[in-house]
Amino acid sequence: MKTLQDLTKTSDDEAVGSTRRPTNPIRRFWSSAVGKKWVMAVSGLALLGFVLVHMVGNLKIFLGAVHLDEYAEWLHTLGEPALPRTVVLWGMRLGLIAAFGLHIVAAAQLTRMNHKARPVRYQSRRDYVAANFASRTMRWTGVIIALFLLFHLADLSWGTTNPDFVRGNTYDNVIASFERVPVAILYILANIALAIHIFHGSWSMFQSLGWNNPRWNPIRRYFAVTFAAVIAVGNISMPLLVVTGVVGK
Ligand code: HEM
Repeated sequence: MKTLQDLTKTSDDEAVGSTRRPTNPIRRFWSSAVGKKWVMAVSGLALLGFVLVHMVGNLKIFLGAVHLDEYAEWLHTLGEPALPRTVVLWGMRLGLIAAFGLHIVAAAQLTRMNHKARPVRYQSRRDYVAANFASRTMRWTGVIIALFLLFHLADLSWGTTNPDFVRGNTYDNVIASFERVPVAILYILANIALAIHIFHGSWSMFQSLGWNNPRWNPIRRYFAVTFAAVIAVGNISMPLLVVTGVVGK
């Protein structure tokens, strides 16, 4: 069992093998394992919110071109006329980039800290295997999601990998993209990885925030399973129904 002292041990402590701690409270919070776990949990919560809202908006594809294009245009004009076009959208994008960056950096640094500070052995081989499986899954699904995101932006935001891309024609762009079998398969696989990541992540998020009373475990599990399933079904339904010809131009 790790003590509170172990958990708030800073990476600086580990690097120099001393008990010296940063005096700045923000640096001190960030350099402790507890601080990084909080950053991971809070940024993860923001990313969960984005994924859910993005999916709900995209599901307008089933209502037809007018609805999806109208929604995409509305996102660009949010805040008008008080603010110039796309200012609010760019604010949201910057928040999203910050959450994504913090999530990845905290995850990488926590992994490094865990590797260095592993004097406390797992109680049993089963605990070891379970913990290792979860953290390895998170790492791999995380890498898959990051790579998918790069492709996704190139595909539907910038249009570089989508030969039929026309800026502003969101519905036609999505259909043209998902009609290609390899692309549809890629979206389906990436969204399975995303669902696994969300399942593990939303389960451990509560632990990181300290809400780990065993009494709440059924609710945590219910939340993790439901959230992951909703995202998987919603996001997979789009490429699946387009590639099979149920939805189209
Ligand atoms: C089948 C599911 C999905 C569909 C149909 C879809 C659709 C789209 C479209 C059409 C855009 C371009 C919007 C525009 O520039 O007007 C977009 C952007 C984006 N998507 Fe997705 N998306 C899907 C899944 C995902 C997933 C799983 C993630 C995250 C893991 C994601 C993250 C993003 C991000 C970050 C942007 C850029 C947002 C911006 O620039 O404002 N999308 N998506």
